[in-house]
Amino acid sequence: MENLKGSNYSWGLVAKIFHWTLAVFILSQILFGINLHFMDPSRVKGELIHFHKIFGTFILFLIFLRLAWKFYNPSPFHKGLSFFHKISSKIIQVLMYIFLILIPIQGMLLTWVSGSDVILLGIIKLPRLVEEDFILHNQYIDVHYAMTITLFTLFLIHLSASMLHIFYYKDKYNVWKSMKFIFKK
Ligand code: HEM
Repeated sequence: MENLKGSNYSWGLVAKIFHWTLAVFILSQILFGINLHFMDPSRVKGELIHFHKIFGTFILFLIFLRLAWKFYNPSPFHKGLSFFHKISSKIIQVLMYIFLILIPIQGMLLTWVSGSDVILLGIIKLPRLVEEDFILHNQYIDVHYAMTITLFTLFLIHLSASMLHIFYYKDKYNVWKSMKFIFKK
């Protein structure tokens, strides 16, 4: 059984579960959102937006849990990795976290200006922090979409870097191994 906590060589089981669960959830939310962008207004679109909002608050909740866990656990050390590699991957990761916090929060503002309510995790109705404003509504949709495309671009850079480590560097810096699940007999 893998260690739950991180070490110099591995992120640990808990961080791995967070990483891969969030990867699937976030990618689904991005593609689902891009699909919403191209849909004409309809009753079905309204229902999809309702589901999208609940799922979005759930992702935000998981991101905060993930960051709390990361804060209290050691991260693996990738021996031999150049300073440029380290700093560039750090910048992309920090930017991804910033957008993963900003997009859901801005999504809540977007919901309020549209005149709708934010139900956290589908359970807790949040008090309205901004008034309904139909002029701001369209501008907020554009900002929400632009931030999502930026996040998607960061995700593609992150994915390309991991492919480079697997196929070009043959994982000599232990980057892939530290995040993949290890199944032992
Ligand atoms: C990582 C999380 C999220 C991503 C990637 C995301 C992405 C998107 C995208 C791409 C759209 C389509 C925008 C367009 O039509 O141009 C959208 C629509 C929308 N999102 Fe999000 N979203 C997220 C979280 C949230 C959250 C947490 C809320 C609110 C609780 C929210 C509220 C909305 C609303 C209300 C719309 C429909 C706007 C409209 O057409 O009136 N989103 N989202």
